[in-house]
Amino acid sequence: MGSRIIGVGMYVPPKTLTNEDFAKMVDTTDSWISTRTGIKVRHIAEPGTGTSELCLEASKRALADAGVDPKDIDFVVIGTLSPDMPFPSTACFVQMGLGAVRAYAMDLGAACSGFIYSLSVGDALIRSGRGKKGLVVGGEILSSVVDYSDRSTCILFGDGAGAAVLEECDDSEGILSCHLHSDGNLWELIHCPGGGTLDPCNPGTSTVRTNYIKMSGNETFKHAVTRMAEVSLEALERNGFKVEDVDLFIPHQANQRIVNAVGKRLGVPESKVFMNLERYGNTSAASIPIALAEAKSQGRYSKGDLVLLVAFGGGLTWGSALLRM
Ligand code: ACO
Repeated sequence: MGSRIIGVGMYVPPKTLTNEDFAKMVDTTDSWISTRTGIKVRHIAEPGTGTSELCLEASKRALADAGVDPKDIDFVVIGTLSPDMPFPSTACFVQMGLGAVRAYAMDLGAACSGFIYSLSVGDALIRSGRGKKGLVVGGEILSSVVDYSDRSTCILFGDGAGAAVLEECDDSEGILSCHLHSDGNLWELIHCPGGGTLDPCNPGTSTVRTNYIKMSGNETFKHAVTRMAEVSLEALERNGFKVEDVDLFIPHQANQRIVNAVGKRLGVPESKVFMNLERYGNTSAASIPIALAEAKSQGRYSKGDLVLLVAFGGGLTWGSALLRM
């Protein structure tokens, strides 16, 4: 048996930060941000909000879309780099909030590749008989780890969550394959040094700003283009498809120029690439499930379509998933 997605949902907090807002906070302009990234607006959670709150709302919407009762869910897997707290897992809070009494729950850390990694785990759990239905979620409150005095990173990130309901199905449909990769040698390119065991939170952490995202944007950019193109082709080759067979590409929404460069390498027309980066910024693990939910509500894919999901993130991590919808 395999697994397929039978429902999707997304949620973003109502408050927004526009490029004009950033121009008042740091030395930047709408023109720089728009041309270098493609981002115009991001949604930002109010202080005191837990990532689980966003994930819970997205999960409720995905379950409603699938017509599935939370009590019939066997597992909840959440990709996140911004959990509510070190433990218990954000997934346990979502399991409680849903009343998914039969489900086991866990978080998964793969930064911006978190949803593809979680989808792969969910698919493997169903394939190995550890459940028949499950929730796979990507959710982040990145505003909790963004340094709003660093213009090179603060303009990039937004908050939000997206969820997908997986169900057991015949092997020939649904998730055809998932492909995951990591290169820990490049961990320094995107990381958050403070708040873990090496540098636990203490009264000085926020003074030296170690509890915020550090990124070498330019280097990250180059790796993202190469790896996202490679892992897209890997998924297609594994299943005997060509680029032109794909009906819709849903890439991680980090930077319009990264997506354009990947599309150019692969020879994908812009009309087949789903983008919503302009309205949400980079929401890390949430970006692909938010895009999946929006693509569905906009009628961008239908039953039988071939959809390719591709992600890249801190770790470094990258991955793809090829779906027959
Ligand atoms: N406004 C104005 N100028 C800026 C800003 C800003 N917000 N940010 C940086 N600059 C300046 C820099 O200081 C630099 O100035 P200098 O030439 O005087 O030194 C100049 O702009 C160019 O800076 P670069 O870093 O070379 O700009 P680049 O074109 O690479 O764009 C960006 C930066 C947008 C961060 C890009 O590199 C990028 O998107 N990288 C990839 C990010 C990514 O994909 N992350 C993946 C996942 S994230 C995760 O896993 C959590």
